[in-house]
Amino acid sequence: MELKRTSQVDTGRINAALNVDAVQPPNAPAAKKLGVGMGGTEHKQAIGQVETEKRQTGAIDQTVGVHFQKVLFGQTLADVAANPKHLRKMEESAQVIGYLERLPGRLGSIATFKPNQAFKLYEYAFPNPDEREPTQDIKDRLKTYDKGANADGSGFFSLAIADKDRHVIGYTQGSTVPSDRGLFFYWQYGCVADQEFMKKSYGVDSNPREHGILNTIHGANAATLVATAKESKQPALGMIWESEPRGLGEDAESIQFTGKRLQIHNQAGGRVMMGMTAEGELVNLHLQPRLTADSEPIALHMMFRPLKYAEGDEMKRGEMPKADGESMLLAWVDNFRREGFAEKDVAEAEAEIRSRLARTEKIVLLPANEVPDAVTLAKTDELLKKQLLDMYDVKDLGAARKFYDQAMKAAV
Ligand SMILES: CC(C)(COP(=O)(O)OP(=O)(O)OC[C@H]1O[C@@H](n2cnc3c(N)ncnc32)[C@H](O)[C@@H]1OP(=O)(O)O)[C@@H](O)C(=O)NCCC(=O)NCCS
Repeated sequence: MELKRTSQVDTGRINAALNVDAVQPPNAPAAKKLGVGMGGTEHKQAIGQVETEKRQTGAIDQTVGVHFQKVLFGQTLADVAANPKHLRKMEESAQVIGYLERLPGRLGSIATFKPNQAFKLYEYAFPNPDEREPTQDIKDRLKTYDKGANADGSGFFSLAIADKDRHVIGYTQGSTVPSDRGLFFYWQYGCVADQEFMKKSYGVDSNPREHGILNTIHGANAATLVATAKESKQPALGMIWESEPRGLGEDAESIQFTGKRLQIHNQAGGRVMMGMTAEGELVNLHLQPRLTADSEPIALHMMFRPLKYAEGDEMKRGEMPKADGESMLLAWVDNFRREGFAEKDVAEAEAEIRSRLARTEKIVLLPANEVPDAVTLAKTDELLKKQLLDMYDVKDLGAARKFYDQAMKAAV
């Protein structure tokens, strides 16, 4: 899930690849009204018994719309906050957010904002049509997942975030994906409106960025995952998404941006999943199958955000159970198969991911400042090397190093 900057990347196909075929979705029970009061707790009342479980509710939960409530089954965002900082950031965003709503199959049933503004924002944030999914495809898929996830936990979730004046200021989408070890959330992309979009679209001089909305997107993803995992009776593993390696851009601006975005993702709890061999070599584990016969497989990074972590841990090197990482990566690549990509191409990428996993002793989680740049990684990764030399339009890694260093120093 990234703003793809390489012309080879067809984001629409990638994202479509992670949406599994629909079977009959379970009927979602009517949502319970969420409790109110920042940082309060709510006692869950079940028929015939009183449950002792206490749930956190907060200001952010008061913004959750009726369609989103239907797939949360009473799960609150405050309760899935990864740590106190995450909760604070979500509460900060509640000062800006008026509505956090899932886009249902019938978009006309949303009364609180205009859903088309969400697609305008998406197109604004992803300006290259080759790099985004056609919005009609998203709308068609929403109809399939109108009631939420399938019985096996697989589902597609697309959310819009509106401010208190009912202007859409955020858009995000992702899928819950079952795997051998449990359910995980694959966040495909998300964006928050900037000052230019607010002026151009609504004639308002404000900037919703840097008010914690990305943190709320993570909260919404986590709540969706936990609720869907409970309903489909499987463990919830955490959230994954893609990000470009630092340096994978065509010019100074896009190269510098890869570094900044990695940093923002890291501050919001994401770390890069990397294999580590017994000798201590870092092995990048992401490989997207070639999408067409004349394109190449694409190497990005896969990021992981656990459901809970101690504040500050996101800035330290961590580790995850290798079986969990393996299970998510293989379920992720398998979805390209379900989506109908050429078996030969998916099998080739899967074989490469499996061989990389076989070389690794463990899977480490790297904060942004420990992630080697693309030129360093390319030394031991032929596919990344080819990708990088094409993008920089240089002949070897020595020239790539110069290009990268100059780009990072350039004033943009
Ligand atoms: C990336 C993006 C989603 C961030 O959204 P946001 O709501 O502004 O992020 P938050 O306010 O939750 O900030 C998250 C962290 O990143 C930091 N941050 C956010 N934007 C930053 C910036 N431009 N420069 C420096 N730090 C920044 C925040 O300070 C915060 O860190 P902290 O918690 O340690 O203070 C938004 O900039 C965007 O939509 N960009 C374009 C689309 C895109 O790149 N999407 C990425 C995923 S596909």
